Amino acid sequence: MAYQTPKLKAVSKAKHRILEKYFPAWARILGSRHEKLAYVDCFAGSGQYADGEEGSPLLILGEARKLVGNPKFRSRILAIFVEENSQAARELQSRIPTDLPDSVKAFVFHEDAHNFVPELLQALPENLPAFVFVDPYGRPLNIPLMNQLLQRPKTEIFLTLMWYAINMHLSNPKTEETITRMFGDKEWKQQPFMSQSCWDRETGFVDSFLGRLNAGFKLKFRIRFSPEDKVPGGDDRTKYYLVHLSNHAKAALLMKEVMYPLGDELGTFDYSATAQQRLFSETPTTEDLIQRLRENFAGQKVTFDELREKTWDWPFIEKHYREAVKTLEGKWEVRIERIESKKIGLKGKDRITFGGGS
Ligand SMILES: C[S@@+](CC[C@H](N)C(=O)[O-])C[C@H]1O[C@@H](n2cnc3c(N)ncnc32)[C@H](O)[C@@H]1O
Repeated sequence: MAYQTPKLKAVSKAKHRILEKYFPAWARILGSRHEKLAYVDCFAGSGQYADGEEGSPLLILGEARKLVGNPKFRSRILAIFVEENSQAARELQSRIPTDLPDSVKAFVFHEDAHNFVPELLQALPENLPAFVFVDPYGRPLNIPLMNQLLQRPKTEIFLTLMWYAINMHLSNPKTEETITRMFGDKEWKQQPFMSQSCWDRETGFVDSFLGRLNAGFKLKFRIRFSPEDKVPGGDDRTKYYLVHLSNHAKAALLMKEVMYPLGDELGTFDYSATAQQRLFSETPTTEDLIQRLRENFAGQKVTFDELREKTWDWPFIEKHYREAVKTLEGKWEVRIERIESKKIGLKGKDRITFGGGS
């Protein structure tokens, strides 16, 4: 099929900002313990957008080059790009830098990801840490295949869940089989979301879809249409969700730190209010966190790391926890044993004893 280089829309930049921030942080953590890491871009694109912006493969290779340029980083990076469109795959191949460092290897496969990823699973060692980006225009990898990926001990998935495209197909008899393949069985047809509309349908579908994915930690970031999509009422409607799936609390905490500023109206990223949506539905304040900590941890003793891990799905990031716990310390409501940090700091292994309780 003819391939037209797409324009990079404002709403698509969010996924690139997340990739650029998360991938190097993930690689530094895993790279300290593993000789080799894999990045798999299942719907890779041609590597460049119409106005010259880099696509995900080139962004990742740029980050990989920076990583291995640091002598402290000892790991090798294997980047695998899968693209079904022959022209896009050819263009991507031609854009792969020819001067990559020896420790970064990039391979472009002109393949259908639905068939190719199962083969790849056979070829990649089970224990190889892998970050898998699933970024389709419509149907993602099928749920059973994503579950196979998530079963591997150190594999995580960053998924673009194209709600608006999938929704168009849910009630179309011609696409029924495709949706059944996506879910892995026909049960979706009996789900309440099929007879619902608007927000109920959307949340019902997303809950049902994510509920079938076997990941201990699921973070989602809702992206609305931007004005350039020219969709009626678009700035209030969901275009897609960015979803991070992992089985490690530390991965989820790291992703939360990366996603959070993107959703912050006052944050460092220059998105218009309509082009993005806060990660968290309400503006969380440190005072809210203080109250929740009092309610949930009275009488308990936990390290700072444990506190954040146990509450990974709360809408707060590290700076809020630090501020909240130190405020409680100032009020004599917690005692901090500083194991890792100096006089007034607060770090991972520091032990916090909450007052109260019976
Ligand atoms: C949203 S674009 C990818 C954008 C890219 N990840 C980026 O961020 O720059 C989706 C790409 O998936 C490709 N594609 C569609 N179906 C595919 C399949 N079954 N297997 C692999 N690639 C596919 C399309 O040709 C298109 O280039």
